[in-house]
Amino acid sequence: MQITPRDLDVDFSSVPRAWHNGNVIATGISNGLNMLFPHGERFFVRSVKHFLDRIDDPTLRAQIKGFFGQEGRHAKEHDNFNAILRQQGYEIDQFLERYSRLSMWIEKRTPPKLNLAITAAAEHFTAILAADTFTQPDFDRIDPRMRELFAWHAAEEIEHKSVAFDVLKTVDPSYALRIGGLVMATVLLGGFWIWGASTLLRQDGISLRKFFRAVRAGIKTDPKDDPIRKVFGGGILQYLRRDFHPSQNPNEKLAAEWFAARGMSLPEAA
Ligand SMILES: [Fe+2]
Ligand SMILES: [Fe+2]
Repeated sequence: MQITPRDLDVDFSSVPRAWHNGNVIATGISNGLNMLFPHGERFFVRSVKHFLDRIDDPTLRAQIKGFFGQEGRHAKEHDNFNAILRQQGYEIDQFLERYSRLSMWIEKRTPPKLNLAITAAAEHFTAILAADTFTQPDFDRIDPRMRELFAWHAAEEIEHKSVAFDVLKTVDPSYALRIGGLVMATVLLGGFWIWGASTLLRQDGISLRKFFRAVRAGIKTDPKDDPIRKVFGGGILQYLRRDFHPSQNPNEKLAAEWFAARGMSLPEAA
């Protein structure tokens, strides 16, 4: 599979505050994730780049290059939307500063192989979230500019979902290392996401208690269709399988359909 970085041309300047179908809590949860992306994706790139000289396979090297291009563009567009959050009156810089300082501190003290394993697991989570983006029943009703941003990102996440995993397998195929990365990715993504979303929701007058109650209610209404449960439930169980590989999730069609509908280049066989 060839990996192609594509540019997104969307003007976010008039996106409303409650862009997620008027739902303040759903918007806060999505915006919380948006705040994590720029620093997180640059970490993914760094952790893979560290091992670039150990990769001899020309196909995987070409895929890594495409992965760097895609993640760099994602980080930039989510940075652009973070600027809109500021314009909407949210105070986000204290959070962004503390989040990036703490994650850099952790990254520097974590062995490079474990950083790579964290990236491989985080990419598994983002691929699940990506497939879920296209199948959420209310996805068609959210602000069209945000739909473009999240669908573009989701489609490319599906396209490069195996890259970090294949690099990890080449560098060190140890199951214990992969699971160590899964544990750390779960704790870090879960912790940072709750922190980011609650930072925004507090500014909308929504307490942590009310936020958790809403998340629990979402899980109760439709346990099978809840994205948080899909990632931290089914996603973890799947990743624990010794023979797991991201290609076992057949979600490429969702990405290909979205690219085709926009006349964007399709994933091609290498
Ligand atoms: Fe990304
Ligand atoms: Fe990614």
